[in-house]
Amino acid sequence: MTTSRSILSVLTIISAVVFLGMTIDTLRKLPAQTHSDQISAQVVEGKRLWQHYDCNDCHTILGIGGYYAPDVTKSYTVRGDAWLRQFLKDPAAMYPTGRQMPNFHLTDAQVAPLLAYLKWVSEVDTNGWPPAPKGVARQEPAGHAIFLAQHCNTCHAIQGSGGTLAPDLTHEGSRHDQAWILDQLNDPRSHKADSIMPSFAQLPGTEKDELAEYLVSLK
Ligand code: HEC
Ligand code: HEC
Repeated sequence: MTTSRSILSVLTIISAVVFLGMTIDTLRKLPAQTHSDQISAQVVEGKRLWQHYDCNDCHTILGIGGYYAPDVTKSYTVRGDAWLRQFLKDPAAMYPTGRQMPNFHLTDAQVAPLLAYLKWVSEVDTNGWPPAPKGVARQEPAGHAIFLAQHCNTCHAIQGSGGTLAPDLTHEGSRHDQAWILDQLNDPRSHKADSIMPSFAQLPGTEKDELAEYLVSLK
C-alpha cells in the first residue's frame, strides 16, 4: 500500500515538474511568436475597424470568424500591400465577376490601419496555419492585375468596371485573337491610323503575353 502510494506521489511530482517546465517554456516563447511588441496604435485602430465592420462575419482571422470568404490570416503576405490597398477601397475592381465582397467605401484613413492590422496578423507565427494560404484565396489571372496596374481601366471597362472612353473589353476574346491583341498593344495605330490608345510596346514581353492571354479568355 505504502509503496504504491509513494510511486503515485513520485509520478505526480514528475508530472507537475514537466507541466511547469512546459508552461514556462511556452510563456518564454510567446512574445517572439506573437511579436506582441509590434502592436502599434495603428494596429489597434485597424483591429477596432475590423470589429466595427464585422469583417469576421465572413472572414476567419487567426482561427476566429466565418467561412463564407477567404481566411485572411496570411492575406498580407500572399497579396502584398498595393493589391490589398486597391482591393479594400474597391473590391469589384479586382474581382469584376462572381462572388464579391461588399464595398464598404473605406477611406484612406481607414485602409491604412486595416492594412497595419492585417500585416501584423500575417507576421504572427501560426506554425504554418492556414495551410497553403494561396489556395484559400481566389487567384485572379495575372493579366487582370497588369490591366489595372497599367491603368487600361481608365479607358476600358470589363464587366461594368472601368472607363467608357474606349471599347468595352468584356467579350474581347470573341472579337480578336492573341496575335491581334499583341499588335494592338505594340502599335495601336497598326489597326487604326488615328488611334488615341497609347502604345504599350515598352512593357516586358511576358506582361504583354499575360495581358493578351487574359483578354483572349474573356469570351
Ligand atoms: C459579406 C461578406 C464579407 C464581409 C463582411 C467582408 N468581406 Fe472581405 N471578402 C469577402 C469575399 C467574398 C471575398 C473574396 C472575393 C472573391 O472571392 O470574389 C473577400 C476578400 C477579402 C480580402 C482578400 C483576401 C485574399 O487574400 O484574396 C481581404 C483582405 C478582405 N476581404 C478584407 C475584409 C475586411 C477588412 C473586411 C471588413 C472591413 C471584410 N473583408 C468584410 C466577403 C466579405
Ligand atoms: C487613353 C485611353 C486608352 C488606354 C489607356 C488604353 N486603351 Fe485600349 N483602346 C483605346 C481606344 C480608343 C481603342 C479603340 C480603337 C483605337 O482607337 O485604337 C482601344 C482599343 C483596344 C483594344 C481593341 C478593342 C476592340 O475589340 O476593338 C484592345 C484589346 C485594347 N485597347 C487593349 C488595351 C489594353 C490591354 C490597355 C492597357 C495596357 C489599353 N488598351 C489601354 C484607348 C485606350
